[in-house]
Amino acid sequence: MTNQIEKHLQDYQTHAHDLFEEFLEFLRIPSVSTDEAHQADILRAANFLASKLAVIGLEKVEVFPTARHPIVYGEKIVDLKQPTILIYGHYDVQPPDPIDSWESPPFKPEVRGDYLYARGASDMKGQIWAAISALQSIYHTAEIPINIKFLIEGEEEIGSPSLEGFLDSHRNMLACDIVLNPDAGMLAPDKPTIIYALRGLAYFELRVYGPKADLHSGVFGGVVANPANVLSKVIAKMHDDQGKVTLPGFYDQVREITEKEHADLSKIGMDDNFFKAVTGVPALGGDTEFSPIERVGARPTLDVNGLYAGFIDKGAKTVIPAYAMAKVSTRLVPDQDPEKIHECLRAFLQENVPDTVRWELDYLSGAPAYIAEGQAPGISLFIDALQQTWGVKPLRKREGGSIPVATSMKNALGVDSIITGFGLPDDQIHSPNERLHLPTHRKGVEALIRFFLSFE
Ligand code: BES
Ligand code: MN
Repeated sequence: MTNQIEKHLQDYQTHAHDLFEEFLEFLRIPSVSTDEAHQADILRAANFLASKLAVIGLEKVEVFPTARHPIVYGEKIVDLKQPTILIYGHYDVQPPDPIDSWESPPFKPEVRGDYLYARGASDMKGQIWAAISALQSIYHTAEIPINIKFLIEGEEEIGSPSLEGFLDSHRNMLACDIVLNPDAGMLAPDKPTIIYALRGLAYFELRVYGPKADLHSGVFGGVVANPANVLSKVIAKMHDDQGKVTLPGFYDQVREITEKEHADLSKIGMDDNFFKAVTGVPALGGDTEFSPIERVGARPTLDVNGLYAGFIDKGAKTVIPAYAMAKVSTRLVPDQDPEKIHECLRAFLQENVPDTVRWELDYLSGAPAYIAEGQAPGISLFIDALQQTWGVKPLRKREGGSIPVATSMKNALGVDSIITGFGLPDDQIHSPNERLHLPTHRKGVEALIRFFLSFE
């Protein structure tokens, strides 16, 4: 077996250059899912992947249309008595803005030092590419006694609206024993990581309306409530001085972590200094009752993701705006229910928004948290593959980001996912200058080759 692994690792070395060139081509496609203007690019990315899957030897490759963005599927079935691994990915990316903050254009990938800079390089075209590279390096010369299925969607960054329906209507096609989801990441280049829990999400837009039009702030200031002032005050009331969320009932369904988990998480080393170094903030915020790693992994949070009101151009304009808006989202933990959180927020607003303004709340999307019950199938082989590649035992931790598909897959296919990935905390995902650490990416390919070869 070792010889075989060496041979395929060698094959990867030989083809690494060509694979990299093709990866750059993939990154040049601006497959931004939230922006209608990129519809053609989304389609181009889906077709690009479909042809690549076919080239490496997958069969029944198909681009399935959905109400929004297509799903790419391909499979290689060698023997139905052998285990089947379903590999999940998303080819869509976040919008590149603020565009002026990029040092090189987001869709013109550029290598600087050990990093490759491009939107989607880490989240998660690079992760899809790692899986494709590993399988190409194997299928090039050999058969393996496992069945492989790829499911790559184009709507992850907008909350996967079509995926659940697709899983339901294609249960047989997607039936599998193991799910590999490389849409998370690792803690550091020398710390391969497996994620056993992810936070959920409930996302809202809150609009506050005051006068029928913008008003002169001298003529009317003092008699008309300012929607920007009202909105800011309401938002400020959503947290107390200790950093806890004040919406009544917000924490009611939170599953507390056990003493053992508390002890395990505290060994991981994601402390104040870690978060300060990665983010550049002078001091950390949040609920001081919990450690940083628990705050991001195991506690729910509420954040304003966007805020708009009044005059925001250069210079001064004396105005009372007619309107103010906030995008507010909550990250949820087991066993919180996004619908219940929606009710909490609505009740809080009814209680706290004064009658000097009118308000509207839209619930944009929601997904519960994910937690693996026990061991995901295949995980011990995956742990071995990581360990052989990095020479250390992988970390097990919770992740604060959301991958709603993990829950959907568990519900539809009955399988817990191996959640992992070869991106790093400072990859600047969703942010300008997103990048991929190439040495870690290559090690990821190596680990995947070992994993796929570990089934006999
Ligand atoms: N890959 C991320 C989630 C992630 C990031 C997991 C880092 C682990 C480590 C994913 O693409 C993402 O951003 N998801 C969204 C989900 C939302 C749009 C429903 C998120 O978390 O904001
Ligand atoms: Mn992602």
